[in-house]
Amino acid sequence: MTRPLLVEVIAWLPGRGVKPHDHQTWGIVVGLDGEETNINWLRRDDGSKPGFADLTIGHEVNVGPGDTAVFMPNDIHSVRNDGETTTLSLHVYRKSLAHTDRSEFDPDQKTVKPCPKRERKAA
Ligand SMILES: [Fe+2]
Repeated sequence: MTRPLLVEVIAWLPGRGVKPHDHQTWGIVVGLDGEETNINWLRRDDGSKPGFADLTIGHEVNVGPGDTAVFMPNDIHSVRNDGETTTLSLHVYRKSLAHTDRSEFDPDQKTVKPCPKRERKAA
């Protein structure tokens, strides 16, 4: 079953962000206000050992107003707000993230585990 697009605006307070993760769907992020640092990670292992992932930083991209970042399903990234003001960015994903089996990574511990499932409840 094809799930609908997910469109959302995400705000990061100064000093906040999100650990490395994938999306298991394509997505595009457009900066609206402030500047986020997107860190793109490369996986060095072959994914054959459950729970193990060896990541290294590929490159960093600053996403400010009007800038874009594009992700394919297996791309791994993390986000930081290193600025002094809250950032805003528009996110569009092909599938609702409540219906994808995403993973989150800990580069220091070299681990990977399922992301907690998002739940959307009717108002
Ligand atoms: Fe993300």
